[in-house]
Amino acid sequence: MITTVDLTRESLSDAFNRPITYLRVSVTDKCNLRCVYCMPESGLTWLRRDEVLSYEEIVEIVRAAARVGVRTIRLTGGEPLVRRDLHRLVAGINAIDGIDDIALSTNAVLLEEQLDALVAAGLRRVNISLDTLRPDRFERIARRPGLDGVLRGIDAAVAAGLGPVKLNCVVMRGQNDDEIGEFAQLTRERAVYVRFIEVMPVHENLELQRNAYVSSDEILERVAAVDRIEPVPGPPGNGPARYFAFPGALGAVGVISPLSHDYCERCNRVRLTADGRLRLCLFGDQHVDLRTPLRAGASTAEIAGLLTASMAIKPERHHLRLGEASSRMRAFSEIGG
Ligand code: 5AD
Ligand code: SF4
Repeated sequence: MITTVDLTRESLSDAFNRPITYLRVSVTDKCNLRCVYCMPESGLTWLRRDEVLSYEEIVEIVRAAARVGVRTIRLTGGEPLVRRDLHRLVAGINAIDGIDDIALSTNAVLLEEQLDALVAAGLRRVNISLDTLRPDRFERIARRPGLDGVLRGIDAAVAAGLGPVKLNCVVMRGQNDDEIGEFAQLTRERAVYVRFIEVMPVHENLELQRNAYVSSDEILERVAAVDRIEPVPGPPGNGPARYFAFPGALGAVGVISPLSHDYCERCNRVRLTADGRLRLCLFGDQHVDLRTPLRAGASTAEIAGLLTASMAIKPERHHLRLGEASSRMRAFSEIGG
């Protein structure tokens, strides 16, 4: 009997038998905020325009990824909404056979004005960064004003039915940890997932990370001090967060623990950088250049082959530790979602 390989049904899995079905796509390294845990205030160098993949190139890589089993695409940055006409990319990805979920991670500053076009193009879900509910703190943490716009963006996303909307809150001792209870209370009356994230070390934030780190266990204790919580299943297609809810609440609280718990065990994801490298670990350096072969005319099948081959160097886990620099220069919305 002759066996033929049906490329449309091939599936990616790494050397540790983890199925890889989720691709995060960074569409730009730029951002309209400067969150203290992510970027320095100034002195950044940005990618040149010709280094950044075009939408057509991204669509081609996603097509190859879909052939080997990727089903979910999440658009990230920097801040993805600062790239012009992002809805064009969403429409291009939405037209690809096999992709059944397109999500966006955003700071939501520009969300309200772009939401209709994004939804019409096929956007299904959003994760929104929100570290504080107080305007003065927002301006200190994000180093730019904008909380009003973010809150309008959240309302617009909920109204557009982009649920369940997930809010990502990076918890920092002395900066916003006293808002844990208020954030958790939001889940009682609203069908939102509030996800608390442990601050991760990147080169720019080591001191902050050492001083401000709050473990997810402590975060949960502080939520439980508000009212009884019970573990609940997360939203479908969820990543590494663990979820809990107050009795009768419409939403839930989640914790993402890249440092304190085994975050890597169920990893199902890889990342495409804005300059066209496939990063095998969100926190490691292992990567494969896809831009060069793509620009040299590689076919979809050849790119799919490179994706499959790259699985061999996906590491089993990251080795980040509290207060130690990762090899990454910036976090670039790496974690939430
Ligand atoms: N630690 C934790 N989360 C981070 N993010 C970016 N940098 C960090 C970091 N150092 C994630 C958060 C934030 C999103 C934009 O990126 O989820 O909400
Ligand atoms: Fe921009 Fe997100 Fe980084 Fe804040 S965390 S500076 S919103 S990319």
